[in-house]
Amino acid sequence: MSGNNIDMTTSKDSQDQLIIFDTTLRDGEQSPGASMTLDEKVRIAKMLEQMRVDVIEAGFPVASEGDFKSVRAVAEAVKNSTVCGLARALNKDIDRAGEALKPAVSSRIHTFIATSPIHMKEKLRMEPDEVLAGAVAAVKRARQYTDNVEFSAEDAGRSDLDFLCRVVEAAIDAGAGTINIPDTVGYNIPHQFGELIRKLIERVPNSDKAIFSVHCHNDLGLAVGNSLSAVLNGARQVECTINGLGERAGNASLEEVVMAVRTRRDVFSCDTNIDATMIVPTSHLVSSVTGFPVQPNKAIVGKNAFAHESGIHQDGVLKSRETYEIMRAQDVGWSDNKIVLGKHSGRNALKTRLEEIGIVLESEEALNAVFSRFKDVADRKHEIFDEDLIAIANESQAALEEMHYELVSSWVCSETGEIPHAKVTLKIDGKEVTGESDGGGSVDAVYSAIKQIVPDHGMLELYSVNNITSGTDAQGEVTVRLEKAGRQVYGNGADTDIVIASAKAYLDALNKLALATDRAHPHDSVVSEGV
Ligand code: KIV
Ligand code: ZN
Repeated sequence: MSGNNIDMTTSKDSQDQLIIFDTTLRDGEQSPGASMTLDEKVRIAKMLEQMRVDVIEAGFPVASEGDFKSVRAVAEAVKNSTVCGLARALNKDIDRAGEALKPAVSSRIHTFIATSPIHMKEKLRMEPDEVLAGAVAAVKRARQYTDNVEFSAEDAGRSDLDFLCRVVEAAIDAGAGTINIPDTVGYNIPHQFGELIRKLIERVPNSDKAIFSVHCHNDLGLAVGNSLSAVLNGARQVECTINGLGERAGNASLEEVVMAVRTRRDVFSCDTNIDATMIVPTSHLVSSVTGFPVQPNKAIVGKNAFAHESGIHQDGVLKSRETYEIMRAQDVGWSDNKIVLGKHSGRNALKTRLEEIGIVLESEEALNAVFSRFKDVADRKHEIFDEDLIAIANESQAALEEMHYELVSSWVCSETGEIPHAKVTLKIDGKEVTGESDGGGSVDAVYSAIKQIVPDHGMLELYSVNNITSGTDAQGEVTVRLEKAGRQVYGNGADTDIVIASAKAYLDALNKLALATDRAHPHDSVVSEGV
């Protein structure tokens, strides 16, 4: 099999590979406000493929027409990773997933049903034997579309072990090559979760016919710890997301799992295929697309993850890096912060540097857009760092995607002792509209002018500014969160002018709010039609 596509045999060699199953586009997108457009999902999927992720869970095709199309688009675009679609144990879900995945070079259907007493009784209203029969029927139906079927026992972390063993054995007999054990509600503690995996592998008679996988949520901050404990006890697939994005407190973070296994090879008897130098650019892309900022002290991908503030640490690192660093920042894709390009740099230099930091622009149109934005920023900021390039590339590629509201121009007058005044022109469906307003400050005046043009603007719940690099000419990155009718969206914008960055972030969020939202959720209960 070519590229990252997985060999489903469970030979001794494959036991030493830890399969990385990324669910940023599915469970990650279930974070309130993290919805992504089709083009954004394809862009992220291509980065994940480049990172050599083994399986990319592209979405939940039955959720909506948009989700179906996104899974299909990812299946068409990705060649070297297995593309997976989620399906409840329902005929309609499985058929929709099979249909969406048709163009994939390598596809997987991931079907699931809950096995914990509380989920079976309260949510599914099904007897355990009905659940077992449903699991078997779902796996068999999924096998009609692909040989690569994963079965998940939802809320396995709170399930009865004997019943779980029966369901897992039956799912393997029915043709599931991967058995996923989710800690759906993040309730487990590492030693206990590891033991669960060990017992399942020991007790299920046909466990050698499947790869055991784990999917841990972070409600107690233990998603990575639980996943690693499972790996020590025989799990050979971990489901995770970039930046730990995901439902509620999120999923296990891909970068933490990968780097823990790689840094502590003395402890783990397996490794992943991941190209770790792609981690930081992918983290930036996911953050920029979703608008979810990465906390500065986040392991591996946080701004401060490799920064040494105290004098003692700085002194130690200067004498010998290993005194305080267990990984090299460059190995996970951080640049050494040298000035890389300036306003005289040409298209080729830009393209080459972008490729060196993991950003491959596939079309001439994309390169032109990034180059034009690069020139624009370089005119105002002499030193362009890798962090600037990542922001420029993310923003200009996003601008190529279809938008409802586009910023044409913005003008602000702010003078000591005077009330700031702004005039903003937007293009809405090809037509230019101008709004004007006073405000408490420049940003407030611009936002009020935009609100005049877009009456349906929801509530601004969050506004925050971060500088991408240092210095007063640095690009500022603005994040906003809007809420409308119970739905949250995030928007991001970057510019050397903070007022423009603010306008861009607001419009990014308004564009997301304008997208259709009618979709089902994977945790919606299985209705009576059953499999
Ligand atoms: O958390 C969970 O149980 C899930 C399943 C659908 C695998 O996301
Ligand atoms: Zn989940």
